[in-house]
Amino acid sequence: MVVKNLKISFGSGPDPVPVVAGVSFSVEAGQVLALVGESGCGKSISCLSLTGLLPSPPARVTADEITFYSDTGGAVDLLHAPPKVMRRVRGGGIGYIFQEPAASLNPVFRIGDQIAEAVLLHRPEVQDVRQEVLDLLQQVGIPDPVSRLRAYPHELSGGMQQRVMIAMALAGGPGLLIADEPTTALDVTIQAQVLDLIDRTRRERNMAVVLVTHNLGIVAGLADVVAVMYAGQLIERGPVADVLAHPAHPYTRALLKAVPRSGSSGRLETIPGSVPPPERFSAGCRFCDRCPRVAGPLCGQVPPPEQERAPGHFCCCYAAPVTEGRDE
Ligand SMILES: Nc1ncnc2c1ncn2[C@@H]1O[C@H](COP(=O)(O)OP(=O)(O)O)[C@@H](O)[C@H]1O
Ligand SMILES: [Mg+2]
Repeated sequence: MVVKNLKISFGSGPDPVPVVAGVSFSVEAGQVLALVGESGCGKSISCLSLTGLLPSPPARVTADEITFYSDTGGAVDLLHAPPKVMRRVRGGGIGYIFQEPAASLNPVFRIGDQIAEAVLLHRPEVQDVRQEVLDLLQQVGIPDPVSRLRAYPHELSGGMQQRVMIAMALAGGPGLLIADEPTTALDVTIQAQVLDLIDRTRRERNMAVVLVTHNLGIVAGLADVVAVMYAGQLIERGPVADVLAHPAHPYTRALLKAVPRSGSSGRLETIPGSVPPPERFSAGCRFCDRCPRVAGPLCGQVPPPEQERAPGHFCCCYAAPVTEGRDE
């Protein structure tokens, strides 16, 4: 998947409100990209926009490039794909685990039928659909799958519903899985199991994964590359080890300080202030009014350009020059 200069604005009038401004990233087969940032920074809408899932209007989506590389069909230009191709990619080539269980599980249908429908729609070549559904339920760790086929979503616990959603997302045989905060609603033990499941499936299928989270703590163990978003902009991205060891942007540093460490009794630092609403975004760096390291008036006036600090590690910040900060 390659995304270049993705922009999303809302509003049908002459002055739409720009929310996502120039987001670029790529993720390869077998790789996990973590998309990180506080709530409201545009992670979900960025993911939804890739396959045309944002209602338009009010959303307006533009980009220089959105290309999906499928393992069979080569490159698909999602920016110009006709609806028929888009429907095939959505749920087929690209599987979603939505943030809201209600967005993927229909309360009035049995889970076996829902998963079967996804298999039928995207993989007509499958001969024994029932067996395939059972295999999927087994893969996502649902005990006694035969009896669960007939269950309705509300008859399952939150953790089991999450597993069913993962089974749904995998049912179309995706080359890319987009998991939007897949564990936020779950308790810590189940969280770990679900993340482990996503990771194991990635390995078995050589699938690319975009993992959306606001928790940098779960990024370390799972992701290969990390992209940090703030207020609709990507402010830092790079190999996970390098970004976590040498965070360059003051926002990334602040996020890291806000990660609970196991065994630590120290107080968690929170980031003072909150993400401004889109109408109040600064003309320069959008983090400017919360930043502890403002370098000068330029910060509030001109968006900082992306600079490469180490191989593949990019950051948009005037206060984080290329040579500084690597040995802190
Ligand atoms: N239908 C909409 N109309 C106007 N603004 C919207 C709409 N949907 C989302 N937004 C804006 O997009 C921002 C980002 O939303 P979202 O992608 O859900 O953030 P995240 O997933 O990072 O928490 C919201 O804070 C809101 O300002
Ligand atoms: Mg979200």
